[in-house]
Amino acid sequence: MKTELSQKLGIEHAIFGFTPFPAVAAALTRAGGFGVLGAVRYTASDDLARDLDWMQDHTDGLPYGLDVVMPAKRVEGVSETDVEAMIPEGHREFVRATLAKHGVPELAEGEASGWRITGWMEQVARGQLDVAFDYPIKLLANALGSPPADVVARAHDHDVLVAALAGSARHARHHAEAGLDIVVAQGYEAGGHTGEIASMVLTPEVVDAVSPLPVLAAGGIGSGEQIAAGLALGAQGVWLGSIWLTTTEAELHSRALTAKLLAAGSGDTVRSRALTGKPARQLRTRWTDAWDDPDGPGTLPMPLQGLLVAEAVSRIQKYEVEPLLGTPVGQIVGRMNSERSVQQVFDELTRGFEKAVDRINRIAGRSAS
Ligand SMILES: Cc1cc2nc3c(=O)[nH]c(=O)nc-3n(C[C@H](O)[C@H](O)[C@H](O)COP(=O)(O)O)c2cc1C
Repeated sequence: MKTELSQKLGIEHAIFGFTPFPAVAAALTRAGGFGVLGAVRYTASDDLARDLDWMQDHTDGLPYGLDVVMPAKRVEGVSETDVEAMIPEGHREFVRATLAKHGVPELAEGEASGWRITGWMEQVARGQLDVAFDYPIKLLANALGSPPADVVARAHDHDVLVAALAGSARHARHHAEAGLDIVVAQGYEAGGHTGEIASMVLTPEVVDAVSPLPVLAAGGIGSGEQIAAGLALGAQGVWLGSIWLTTTEAELHSRALTAKLLAAGSGDTVRSRALTGKPARQLRTRWTDAWDDPDGPGTLPMPLQGLLVAEAVSRIQKYEVEPLLGTPVGQIVGRMNSERSVQQVFDELTRGFEKAVDRINRIAGRSAS
């Protein structure tokens, strides 16, 4: 599965995988794809350095990348404490009441909330970059808009390609104007922050909008046939996030969550502001229902919502409170029905891709490979 971009990066298959887990990212790279480690959860530089050291030792000299979350709109000189102070008491009370209704225990005295969102604050993301540029990363991706010009320049100085996610052709054009090298066209079906246009419509629109920049198709891809579709729509590769969550290398925080993902169908996700304040596709749970209820207080804008719910999410995860337990995941969750290694999933993707290409070749009256 070779495209101009895969050849430029020296990878065997144009399959890019976003994951918050170093073991998954490394396995993806070793399988012949391109692993991209999500950095948002690393608030301490030492932790990121430790995991990048590990990645370096487990990727056989093959390329990998890093994904940061730098919001397009930034607030200068505001600390986490300043932001916390903007949260209305009524919203805090709603969190307390919802947790109490479901019997969610408190964290132990002095126990820190494990789920932080400060990685979305620009100063934290910049700290992550200070660490990352000491490693031979080959790609820097940004989730929420184009990264600032100085970050793009710094990446290029280090021979690092810069990518950003786009949910519309307008966003994609903005990335092209900002001097980015790759656009990830991420459709409505995707897990995580997502726009309102489905991949089938979005991919060719973005390809046309930014040509000749390479585009990766993302959102709703979990089979080789869907990879073939993305490439047929003009993408130079695909970018998958959800499918890796139920691999054996993924360190999901609870078995109960893995079980929920394995059991979920493609209709069991919702695009909700409950987690971050921006629409993000995730498992639909009693927690998302509470925030999306028109009789409730509604969500706060980013980054307030993330700060508001951080401790609650940690408690729900720690005590595995099943009705509230969720994660960002896309509609492809309906295909994630068994736990397999990254290599097994990857092999199935490449086999499915070959089958799809053969099928299309037969339909087109050409001999299959
Ligand atoms: C659990 C999870 C967390 C995500 N977090 C981020 C993130 O921090 N940064 C980012 O650029 N994209 C993030 N995404 C989106 C992925 O990069 C990717 O675009 C998306 O998963 C592709 O669609 P799919 O879920 O249908 O494969 C996340 C996706 C999931 C499932």
